[in-house]
Amino acid sequence: MADVLNTSEECDLPSLYAHPFVYKGIILTQYTNNDVMRQCEQFEFRPDDVILASYPRTGTTLTQEIIWQVVNHERVTKDAEFGPLASRFPYLELSSNYNSQPSDEPTALDMLKEQTSRRLIKTHLTYSFLGGQIEKANAKMIVVMRNPKDNVVSCFPFYTGLHIFKEGTSFSDFCRAYMTGKAIYGDFCSMNLQWWALRDRGNVLILRYEDLVRQPFQEVRRVASFLGFTLSSEKIAAIVHNTSFSVMSKNDAVNFRLPSNNGSFLRKGKVGDWKSKLTVAQSEAMDAWMAERLSGTGLQFIFE
Ligand code: PPS
Repeated sequence: MADVLNTSEECDLPSLYAHPFVYKGIILTQYTNNDVMRQCEQFEFRPDDVILASYPRTGTTLTQEIIWQVVNHERVTKDAEFGPLASRFPYLELSSNYNSQPSDEPTALDMLKEQTSRRLIKTHLTYSFLGGQIEKANAKMIVVMRNPKDNVVSCFPFYTGLHIFKEGTSFSDFCRAYMTGKAIYGDFCSMNLQWWALRDRGNVLILRYEDLVRQPFQEVRRVASFLGFTLSSEKIAAIVHNTSFSVMSKNDAVNFRLPSNNGSFLRKGKVGDWKSKLTVAQSEAMDAWMAERLSGTGLQFIFE
């Protein structure tokens, strides 16, 4: 039975990924390179930076837009658009645009080094990789997490659409890779547990995608309060509206078509979509994997 997953089964990266790139043990894509990763390792954070860290496909873009609109709340009105998120909230380790076309545009690192105003920085890198540099600056960190069943379902069409997989890689292959730490950016549990261990610190805020979708007003207010802003109910309502799935998915500054398939970057924006994709065997294998990896840690997810 191909769908029964064996978590101990090894899978080999070149059989899954079209351009596997591993930097110091971290599995990355063709959208970064050695030079950029070396610069990230030595990146000088500043005390007023806001670092948004997440495993890929956990609601990072939604959280970026919320943070940006909270920080820039004086400019925010209902339905206002603010231009490409990639320049407002750079993705630290990205070296090229997702079209892989040669471009004269500055990289995220270039933009961040030049920026003199408060920087908002997205990364999918782990705390074990970046933590030393972040600690030197004592900057604020926001982490967003999502349940791994919806996460694996969201990752697959995205990586397919970006030509990250080798042709023929199946969802079943990817599930196996995901539960053996061979997904892009590595092991979901290990990354989230590293950030989870920091949850009681005053400079760390942990959010859950499911809460952002189900109770956006409260979550926007939490983000604002963490960043030191008291916003009016009207302002929060405008941010909630502007960051809803229906509004963001129509905004070309944040949403785009994926190069190789008909999908888009913002796909469904739902909690519990895994029920339409995972087989019973896959779902049970993920339950067993989570029980093994997360029990006793206090880290729990919302699945529906
Ligand atoms: S990435 O590529 O790692 O930056 O992706 P990321 O932004 O972390 O996650 C993408 C998923 O988040 C959903 N999304 C949203 N959901 C609800 N509301 C809003 N506004 C929103 N914006 C993005 C997006 O659709 C992806 O989830 P799926 O399940 O694939 O739809």
